[in-house]
Amino acid sequence: MSLSRSIGPALLAATALLFGALIGVPASARQDGTTVVAAEESQPAQVAELTDAHAQAAAGDPAAGQSKAVVCSACHGMDGNSADPQYPKLAGQHERYIARHLALFKSGERENAIMLGFAATLSAQDMRDIGAFYAGGTVKPGLADETVVDTGPYNGKRFYEIGQAIYRGGIAKRGIPACGACHGPTGSGNPGPSYPALAGQHARYTADMLRRYRDGAVYGHGERGNKVMSEVAQDLTDQEIDALASYIEGLYPSDSAALPR
Ligand code: HEC
Ligand code: HEC
Repeated sequence: MSLSRSIGPALLAATALLFGALIGVPASARQDGTTVVAAEESQPAQVAELTDAHAQAAAGDPAAGQSKAVVCSACHGMDGNSADPQYPKLAGQHERYIARHLALFKSGERENAIMLGFAATLSAQDMRDIGAFYAGGTVKPGLADETVVDTGPYNGKRFYEIGQAIYRGGIAKRGIPACGACHGPTGSGNPGPSYPALAGQHARYTADMLRRYRDGAVYGHGERGNKVMSEVAQDLTDQEIDALASYIEGLYPSDSAALPR
């Protein structure tokens, strides 16, 4: 899918260069150095498998995953739409992204005392089954903050518009790429272990993650790590982070069953 609709040509040139540097986009994904093309859905971007068991696990079975996820529903909601914003929504997240992060919790490469406990007993196959269950769900988006900002560099803009502009176009002069180039124009990410869906997520969780990435967090040791976000987020201000998180909470795929009418 081409992102040229939402991003101006100059920015595309800048972001294409940046992406080349950040993730080593294959030459075929850059056209004339001006167009960024998201990875094909059928060929999801890869990161190294965490363990041999993960490399060998079969595609997840959503029915098996549903029963294995009963214990998770206390925090993440029955259908993966958590009501309490301190717990991330998992509905609509990609199977292998969920499996990868469960493995990272289990190994301690992503530190969280609560999730360590819940991931510790899961096999690689359990992780994919649970991932498949949540991936089949639909995220229920929240609402973006429309309050007009009355001071600072974004004076006069609605709060979410600050995030929307960065999400769609980045900030070329500060080297911040458009989020949509990797996470998709509607925040649905890309299947596979790499690019998570963001749309509809609680703003509090998104903002937390962005602050951790800004502080340099990389989940996964050595080659298994994914440094991209620590580079993307390093120069974002607190206001930009909160506005991005607000915009993303209100974002949903246009064909979503959960679309507000
Ligand atoms: C007691 C509450 C609780 C329970 C039960 C729980 N989780 Fe979590 N989960 C959390 C919290 C808190 C986080 C956020 C961790 C962080 O901030 O890094 C989280 C994060 C996650 C993430 C990362 C999401 C992302 O977008 O990166 C996944 C995946 C996940 N949980 C899956 C599960 C699964 C599967 C189960 C059941 C086996 C489960 N959780 C049970 C509290 C819980
Ligand atoms: C070059 C590609 C790329 C760009 C551009 C990018 N991201 Fe990401 N993003 C990633 C990858 C890869 C991950 C997964 C990292 C990991 O596994 O730790 C990620 C993870 C995230 C997460 C964590 C989601 C979760 O549920 O765990 C958030 C939030 C996020 N990105 C927001 C953003 C925002 C906001 C922007 C724009 C300012 C952005 N990203 C730009 C590639 C990108």
